[in-house]
Amino acid sequence: MEERHIKERPEVGDAGRDVERSVAVELSGVTKRFGEFVAVDDLTLDIYEGEFFSLLGPSGCGKTTTLRMIAGFEEPTEGGISVDGDPVRGVPPYRRPVNTVFQSYAIFPHLNVFDNVAFGLRRAGVKGEELQRRVTDACEMVQLSGFEKRKPSMLSGGQQQRVALARALVNRPKVLLLDEPLGALDLKLRKEMQLYLKNLQHEVGITFIYVTHDQEEALTMSDRIAVINEGKVQQVADPPTLYELPKNRFVADFIGQTNVFSGTVESVREGHVTLRTSSGEKVEVTARGVEVEVGQEAHAAVRPEKIRFGSEGDNVSSTTIRQIVYLGVSTQYITELSGGERLVLYQQNSREEDNPEVGEEVPVAWDARNCLILGG
Ligand SMILES: Nc1ncnc2c1ncn2[C@@H]1O[C@H](COP(=O)(O)OP(=O)(O)OP(=O)(O)O)[C@@H](O)[C@H]1O
Ligand SMILES: [Mg+2]
Repeated sequence: MEERHIKERPEVGDAGRDVERSVAVELSGVTKRFGEFVAVDDLTLDIYEGEFFSLLGPSGCGKTTTLRMIAGFEEPTEGGISVDGDPVRGVPPYRRPVNTVFQSYAIFPHLNVFDNVAFGLRRAGVKGEELQRRVTDACEMVQLSGFEKRKPSMLSGGQQQRVALARALVNRPKVLLLDEPLGALDLKLRKEMQLYLKNLQHEVGITFIYVTHDQEEALTMSDRIAVINEGKVQQVADPPTLYELPKNRFVADFIGQTNVFSGTVESVREGHVTLRTSSGEKVEVTARGVEVEVGQEAHAAVRPEKIRFGSEGDNVSSTTIRQIVYLGVSTQYITELSGGERLVLYQQNSREEDNPEVGEEVPVAWDARNCLILGG
């Protein structure tokens, strides 16, 4: 990704609010404890109207708990949640302007597609022509027209998931909460559904809050992502910013692959930092936003695709090729620096070249501007 597309490290973007946009869901200082255990820790987030917003983080980090608090299945131990401008503490789930799609489809096996989609509307007293029209519209929206009479057992996994979606969209919630809705699908169908969901969200304009532990899925679909670890927000940003300017080591490791050098800051000049690793490797870094001082321990990160074979660049090191993994569009090289550090790089398979072989000693190079000092 080109650097010019990247916003500078969003100091306000994280906690500050974009006053031009309406907030659909506001979490303010939300903490959830189960006994002594803190599942969600002082979460403050604004999710804007019409946004595709993802909560991304490893298993157990508190994603589902956060979603359940927005939906009203749990109440925060501390802090408050507002939906569409109104505080929702004490408001039962069915009276909140949100709907949830869970990981397991949770559609009724004994009801056909029409009756599954109509279920909530009937309970809300909608009937006759209006019921017919709204269910038909919802089925059309998820491309299941003609399937209305089918039972779930006669549908594929992706089709069943779309029934669940239609059922959640049919009463036009302000906010749709989706908890790993594609987890049960195979890779190909999951990829199709990702694009489908993204387009659908764009068409209907409803705010989507999407939970996933799959970083690629989050990057593909989201306008913005909150990366969460152990109940705490690590960074909130759009996908390119998260990838190019991760705030800390956790985000850098969780989003894509990265090479991290740990060492001592040797010098700091205007916008430029030199780091010296314990093995003596010198790493030149363009400093953006993070303040470091000479003598301080710090980490520098560089993405595998920013490193190339050759000896021209701000950073040049001699490496030995340890492993080569052919990945189709690119090849992954796992190399070792003279000090023993491992360095991973990707090369596009776009040209016929004299590619190095395992055991060969080759120079690699990368530029300071593609290298980042990480906090924490
Ligand atoms: N009712 C509960 N009682 C006690 N602990 C709970 C309860 N619900 C969740 N937890 C704990 O809170 C933490 C966060 O759980 P949560 O379900 O929100 O994680 P998650 O991020 O959705 O994970 P996954 O990706 O595995 O679904 C976990 O450690 C979990 O064990
Ligand atoms: Mg979960």
